[in-house]
Amino acid sequence: MGILLNVQNLTKTFSGEGKGDYTAVDYVSFQIRQGETVGLVGESGCGKSTLAKLITRLLEPDAGFVRLDGEDITRLQGKALKGAYRKMQMVFQSPMGSFNPRRTIGFGIGESMQNSGVPKAERMQRIAVLLEQCGLLPEFAGRYPHELSGGQCQRAAIARGLAVNPKLLICDEATSALDVTVQQQIVELLISLKQERNLSLLFICHNLALVQSFCDRLLVMHRGNIVEQGVTDQVIQAPKSEYTKRLIEAAF
Ligand SMILES: Nc1ncnc2c1ncn2[C@@H]1O[C@H](COP(=O)(O)OP(=O)(O)OP(=O)(O)O)[C@@H](O)[C@H]1O
Ligand SMILES: [Mg+2]
Repeated sequence: MGILLNVQNLTKTFSGEGKGDYTAVDYVSFQIRQGETVGLVGESGCGKSTLAKLITRLLEPDAGFVRLDGEDITRLQGKALKGAYRKMQMVFQSPMGSFNPRRTIGFGIGESMQNSGVPKAERMQRIAVLLEQCGLLPEFAGRYPHELSGGQCQRAAIARGLAVNPKLLICDEATSALDVTVQQQIVELLISLKQERNLSLLFICHNLALVQSFCDRLLVMHRGNIVEQGVTDQVIQAPKSEYTKRLIEAAF
């Protein structure tokens, strides 16, 4: 399996405006292979979302680089950056926030296809297939975000992410706002998508038990650093860092 995402020495320092600077992501390096599911865990404020934003270019890094599918995307702008978004999509914690409240779910899912000139009839067809793949009826295309439950909306957000047929999906606490059974359903959806599409996943989550249930590898983040990484079961059975030990004790 080839390497899909290569993150090297990624660094971000926020200026504290008088209170001193704060390095939220501190020379972080890791890789994700094609078809691999990697869990990123660590306590609140350790830098997980900042790292995700650096990878997806929602924030500019101070140092380091991100290679996606062999291409350095760290400094891409405009059209070239849009090209990178066809390979990498992100799903956030708040599913409602992924959609414009005044446009239908179908519009949101089809937006990227519309922008790249896919004709309407084909778009409708593809939206229906994506909804079905994500466990929703095709009729949901005509609904507005507020007419969906949190879990349904998160499914729709995943369908939206998949519309461009990406190779990498980054989920930042994508299940955290949902109750436990719905959380499990979303995880099962991700597992089936991974198998059907050979999708790579970076699954950011503070719930270690959930991550353990389906991630191939684990990254443990603490105060801006990846303090441990490895095959999930190995890390959990024989943690090397003190921080990982504490995290496991707290979780199980
Ligand atoms: N735009 C910003 N300006 C200043 N500081 C920031 C900014 N964004 C994040 N931070 C700080 O960087 C640190 C890491 O935040 P981040 O959101 O990455 O944490 P996290 O691991 O995602 O936490 P959570 O599990 O609560 O989502 C925090 O101390 C946060 O206050
Ligand atoms: Mg976060």
